[in-house]
Amino acid sequence: MVESGDKLFLCGVQVVELAPSILSADFARLAEQIHAASEGGASLIHVDVMDGHFVPNMTVGPPVVRSLRKATDLRLDCHLMIENPDQFIPEFAEAGADWISVHQEACRHLNRTLHLIKSHDCLAGVVLNPATPVETLSEVLDIVDYVLVMSVNPGFGAQEFIPGSVHKIKRLAQLREQRRLNYRIEVDGGISTATVGEVVRAGVEILVAGNAVFGHGDPKSNAQRLLKAATEAALQKV
Ligand code: DX5
Ligand code: ZN
Repeated sequence: MVESGDKLFLCGVQVVELAPSILSADFARLAEQIHAASEGGASLIHVDVMDGHFVPNMTVGPPVVRSLRKATDLRLDCHLMIENPDQFIPEFAEAGADWISVHQEACRHLNRTLHLIKSHDCLAGVVLNPATPVETLSEVLDIVDYVLVMSVNPGFGAQEFIPGSVHKIKRLAQLREQRRLNYRIEVDGGISTATVGEVVRAGVEILVAGNAVFGHGDPKSNAQRLLKAATEAALQKV
């Protein structure tokens, strides 16, 4: 699926999208849990792919993306925390991924990898670990559809938000303005009703949340609560 990476506005207010991460979902009830999050307003599903090398954990691969594709119409946002992503990008795209992001730290030829994602008609994203400066992306910002700022060290759900991520979000928003670019800004890690306001005011448009949506209670009302807090923060920016 091809879509525009452009930002969405409703009556002048920035629309913030929610991408629940299935990492914290009950894998035996995945379709049901995704459906509940979607009823709560989620518009993407974030799929965390880990290989046990780039990050110290292992999760799912293309077969799960293929099953998710059948279970939901929501766009599938695949976050590849893997070494040598080029080897797997075609398979994820074929399985039904709509958005594919790769880590700056895992790509020796980042420009080539981003073009590879685009050649499979997916939106191309690049991810920054907490220790990686925004400046490392200066030569690719004009070709990425979105930048994902990690606000925890990748590998696990339910970690604590790293406050130093906020200035990176602000910097990305500033660079986008200065260079008249169109990439969207996503944040991932430790997002909850306590942290959502700060990241939205800094310029985030896409929120990844695992534990806050699926960790406890009802995914539908959890998603609604997060989006309500995000909208309130977006209104403060107007
Ligand atoms: C961490 C993953 C995240 C994680 C977020 O490596 O990339 O997507 O699931 O989980 P929470 O929202 O629980 O911090
Ligand atoms: Zn993720």
